[in-house]
Amino acid sequence: MSIEWTGSGPELLLRVDRNRPEPLRVQLERALRESIRAGRLAAGERLPSSRVLARDLGVSRGLVTECYAQLQAEGYLVTRGGSATRVAAEARPPVAEPQPVPAVPSSLSLPPESTAFTGPVRIDFRPGVPDLSSFPRERWSRALRRACRDAPGDLLGYGDPYGDPVLRDVLAAYLRRVRAAAADPSHTVVCAGYAQGLQLVLRVLAGEGVRVVAVEDPGDPDCRAVATALGFDLVAVPVDERGIDVGTLATSGARAVLLTPAHQSPTGVVLAPDRRQALIAWAVARDATIVEDDYDAEFRYDREPVGALQGLAPDRVALIGSVSKSLAPALRLGWILCPPRLSADVADQKRFADRGSPAFDQLALADLLSSGQYDRHLRHMRPRYAARRAALVEVLGRHAPEVELRGLAAGFHAVAQLPPGADERAVVEAARRRSVGLYGMSGYLLGPPEGRPSPARLVLGFGNLTSDAVSDGIATVADLLRGC
Ligand SMILES: Cc1ncc(COP(=O)(O)O)c(C=O)c1O
Repeated sequence: MSIEWTGSGPELLLRVDRNRPEPLRVQLERALRESIRAGRLAAGERLPSSRVLARDLGVSRGLVTECYAQLQAEGYLVTRGGSATRVAAEARPPVAEPQPVPAVPSSLSLPPESTAFTGPVRIDFRPGVPDLSSFPRERWSRALRRACRDAPGDLLGYGDPYGDPVLRDVLAAYLRRVRAAAADPSHTVVCAGYAQGLQLVLRVLAGEGVRVVAVEDPGDPDCRAVATALGFDLVAVPVDERGIDVGTLATSGARAVLLTPAHQSPTGVVLAPDRRQALIAWAVARDATIVEDDYDAEFRYDREPVGALQGLAPDRVALIGSVSKSLAPALRLGWILCPPRLSADVADQKRFADRGSPAFDQLALADLLSSGQYDRHLRHMRPRYAARRAALVEVLGRHAPEVELRGLAAGFHAVAQLPPGADERAVVEAARRRSVGLYGMSGYLLGPPEGRPSPARLVLGFGNLTSDAVSDGIATVADLLRGC
């Protein structure tokens, strides 16, 4: 039963500290999130008006409004038709029972990236590749050296299949802080990136009797290939400008869904707050599992990062993340925040796959995270990607204003919708002849185009291209479009 606040609500919730370097809005958002997750604010409970809360806290009303809007976007709060802001029905507290981690101590890989290109590519708009030249080699090698020098001898044996306990502790703290995840180290499994994490979780779901898995359409072709290879039946659920269509999902017969809610791959849309709620309601009603691919949410340009879906329903969502976008894909390090009921089985699968991720690498990552160097690296990278993104927008606007760019709010790829009449495949092939690597949307589509051909679109990755290369490549594309 929800409590109606008469004043501004519990003290605990509203404490903000002006002496801390963290902005007040961030503090307030976090306090609210934590209160909802911890069950201190119950589903349906009414929050004070922004005017009252602003007055009580001595902050601007705009700050409170922004904070409420952010939490609405994340699905923690709802406002209907101008009425009061309330805690969302599905923003339930996590199952917080920490479970003992077993004291016991071969990665499968994704199929190769689908690419139509075989020869040399001078400028490659391949999506999903971060700036490889910015990998913090010095910091990483120092952290590795320290791990190798200082780690106790036991660490050279077979490790805990859940992953190094130190890394799991710091990772959970990081994901709580940065992704608003309900991260518990005892349900965290370290893995070799999303590729392996997905396989481990799917194998466990197969063991639970799941046969039908829903995927986003358009969506990541590798995920589809993995699920198919593991014997699942796939259903394609369309994605529109508000994310996956939960109504269609609900009629699909699936008991698991693979999702990219923070930045849909490849369209770049963010899953709308009401759909987050509907999705969780579906998962609860259907006893289903949501596999959340949290692949590039650290890089967001127009607003604060949208919190992870997992924070809203940790017992229904398996969040999989990795350092492939934040550091480098070659490290092959990632994590799974498992629903508690699945964590022991996921750790077993990890043991069967490769008996645990490399110990020194895990310690090096823990070192970067706990020393603040990981955060510093992200802060360093954001303006770099923002500059490349700005170059893409500027040069397309100048050379090909008829091309519409979408999905630019986060990460380092965007979707370019080509003008009517343009032939996606012809543009990709012509660009290839000029040594420019382009990737068409058709490679991400699964379902039939329902009687009408889908518009010609390119998925443009700009993470590993300098601003000059972006400009150069886009000038080539514009030139090709003029000839269409
Ligand atoms: C949609 C999506 N998810 C996740 C990843 C990261 O995969 P991994 O962690 O296995 O490198 C990628 C890599 O490009 C991706 O495109």
